[in-house]
Amino acid sequence: MTAARIAVIAGDGIGLEVMPAGIRAVDAVAVVHGIALDWHELDWGSDYYRAHGRMLPVDGLDVLAEHDAIFLGAVGVPEIPDVETLWGLLIPIRRAFEQYINLRPVKTLPGVTNRVRTDDVIDLMIVRENNEGEYSEIGGRAYRGLPEEAAFQENVFTRKGIARAARFAGELAAARSGKVTSATKSNGIVHTMPFWDEVVRETLADYPTVELRSELIDALAASLVLHPERYDVIVASNLFGDILSDLAGAVTGSIGSAPSANLNPERKHPSMFEPVHGSAPDIAGQGIANPIGQIWSGAMMLDSLGRRPAADHLVAAFELALADGVRTRDLGGTASTEEFASAVVARVD
Ligand code: NAI
Ligand code: MG
Repeated sequence: MTAARIAVIAGDGIGLEVMPAGIRAVDAVAVVHGIALDWHELDWGSDYYRAHGRMLPVDGLDVLAEHDAIFLGAVGVPEIPDVETLWGLLIPIRRAFEQYINLRPVKTLPGVTNRVRTDDVIDLMIVRENNEGEYSEIGGRAYRGLPEEAAFQENVFTRKGIARAARFAGELAAARSGKVTSATKSNGIVHTMPFWDEVVRETLADYPTVELRSELIDALAASLVLHPERYDVIVASNLFGDILSDLAGAVTGSIGSAPSANLNPERKHPSMFEPVHGSAPDIAGQGIANPIGQIWSGAMMLDSLGRRPAADHLVAAFELALADGVRTRDLGGTASTEEFASAVVARVD
């Protein structure tokens, strides 16, 4: 059996701490399921930027293209503008490899109480459009430094881009509860959002068992805090999906637990798996970061490599650790990153 080649970019801050925890946990479950993984660690990120003036080598994307999947920690440091780290590494990977779906599961975890409504069980999927929308390079600044200074930014919404996100949400919902909620703002954003609504509606008409509801993003955000149990699959544009998933992650306990997959569903290119959280400079270097987001992203990676039983096994192992009361500080516990990882590895067997 040939080993799956995994490119590893731990990145910056707590990325360097949660990545070893993630690799240990994935390796533990891989051994049990007879999965061969070949980890290829790349020292790209802000230190690389300081030395070379760029976040990844000139041929970086070609290097990544040789892999079956990319496992990423987090990038970003206070001294370098986020626009350099984000647009120098994350966004080029997402776009070059047509990872047009950012899939973010949000689920109540054992012993971790919902911050708002302790009685609710949350289990939903956010399908975020990951290649276009509000995160575009089109725009500019005029009259720099003058009193008239202005900035312009154009949104890019294409029929193809919206339809493929909606289709992914439709497939997912058909296999789950059959409910899709589309995040919109067609009352205020009068060109792109009505187009979004139109294409989502047309696309989901192909899924007769799926019920579609559109909700305005402001009301949806409030409702997701107060009534998260009402939602199953939420499809959203790049910006709306980004915000909703941090919000939903925080409602279920901690942003540190939230995983994500940047998927190229056609498998023409490698997909990328990373926790939702960033490099958390405020706690970096202390060894206290919650590694669940990284470990769970590793489970999503196994799933996308066609190893669903191993993925489920890994999720069960960290849920068992939580149920046994092992928790990092953000979840009200005292375990270090390493201690939590060890607890997961111990429960794999
Ligand atoms: P952040 O997610 O790094 O931190 C937000 C808050 O959550 C902080 O108080 C942090 O301590 C806490 N937190 C995050 N992850 C945690 C974990 N695993 N365990 C315990 N607590 C955790 O977001 P922030 O502060 O807005 O951004 C910091 C840097 O990270 C910036 O440079 C930003 O651009 C970058 N970033 C990178 C991302 C990526 O690589 N995909 C995503 C989001 C932000
Ligand atoms: Mg975010």
